[in-house]
Amino acid sequence: MSSNALFKEFTLKNLVLKNRLAMAPMTRNFSPNGVPHKDAASYYARRAEGGIGLIITEGVEISHDSSSGYPNCPNLRSKEARSEWKKIVKAVHDEGSSIFCQLWHVGGIRKPGMPPNPEIPGYTPSGFVNANKKVAHEMSLTDIQDMINIYADDAKICEDIGFDGIEIHGAHGYLIDQFFWKDTNKRDDHYGGSLVKRAQFACDIIDACKNNTSDKFLVGIRFSQWKQQDYDAKIADNEKTLSEFLLKLADSNPDFLHCSTRRYWEPEFKSSHLNLAGLAKKITGIPTISVGSVGLNKDFINLYAGDDEAGFANIDELEQRLAMNEFDLIAIGRALLSDPNWANKIKNNQTDKIQQFNKTFVENYY
Ligand SMILES: Cc1cc2nc3c(=O)[nH]c(=O)nc-3n(C[C@H](O)[C@H](O)[C@H](O)COP(=O)(O)O)c2cc1C
Repeated sequence: MSSNALFKEFTLKNLVLKNRLAMAPMTRNFSPNGVPHKDAASYYARRAEGGIGLIITEGVEISHDSSSGYPNCPNLRSKEARSEWKKIVKAVHDEGSSIFCQLWHVGGIRKPGMPPNPEIPGYTPSGFVNANKKVAHEMSLTDIQDMINIYADDAKICEDIGFDGIEIHGAHGYLIDQFFWKDTNKRDDHYGGSLVKRAQFACDIIDACKNNTSDKFLVGIRFSQWKQQDYDAKIADNEKTLSEFLLKLADSNPDFLHCSTRRYWEPEFKSSHLNLAGLAKKITGIPTISVGSVGLNKDFINLYAGDDEAGFANIDELEQRLAMNEFDLIAIGRALLSDPNWANKIKNNQTDKIQQFNKTFVENYY
């Protein structure tokens, strides 16, 4: 099987990507005080040079005091942070690749006492982090509007820095996903109720980001069924509900949908062989990015369950699915942490030379 489908140029809105491979967003916790690590430009450029057409940055905390929930994550708030991001963007562009900034708010994952302002609680739709745990601040309508404005301001900052676009992090049980999920959104205003109504917050953010940036700047959203609070959770448990949800998101014209799954080859529902990104593309016609265990024989949850290693897995099925255009781009996570040259090695049939993944590649920064 040739890997041609992976290495074909792809035009995403106005952006010509050199191939269909993206680096998945991966938090690295190497950015004290919100300023990207001094080696971040070479870290990202190394993956671009290694054959990746689109870099999606690690989660970048939006400029609200409640957005952070983990140590040493980057943001856009200081002049120093923005100047480091400029270097990163330039380094990636110099390799002929494109780069999106992933904008992130952790919602109720934030615990009291965390920096930068320990007294700031986690912000959530209804105070819940999962079905039974009411621990966080329930956002007022003013809080919601302020948050939407901050996303829009940060989108503009990203465009000014030189990013080609943003990916709004709406996945994995963080703030936007807490609005999507019925267990954490119990509101009775127009941000709660049916799944379509629970998608309103995301739609308002996409609209605001688009309105505050130029037409050539891309604005997309990542979403997932699974949550870190519950790996088996689903916001939509059948194709009809998924359609209603995605068509609501589509109303605000996102430029792409990044459909986060743990194993890209799994059909989302029994009713179709398509995976989540395949269904999302079929339902909305919007370009989609798929993800999940590319090149590896274990999914990434194993990493957090104490299983340190994952072996090589061939990508025949990925090639077939890309050749059939089931989805448009594929994001690669851990395989790129262990081997920045993964894409070039696949292209040149050097799979025997791919560096195997283990946990030390998460702990170290290269
Ligand atoms: C160390 C690490 C950090 C991650 N950080 C983020 C993040 O900041 N934002 C996000 O949306 N997903 C994050 N993820 C999930 C990845 O983007 C990706 O969806 C997941 O690793 C599955 O891809 P893989 O099997 O190719 O690794 C992270 C994953 C890992 C392993």
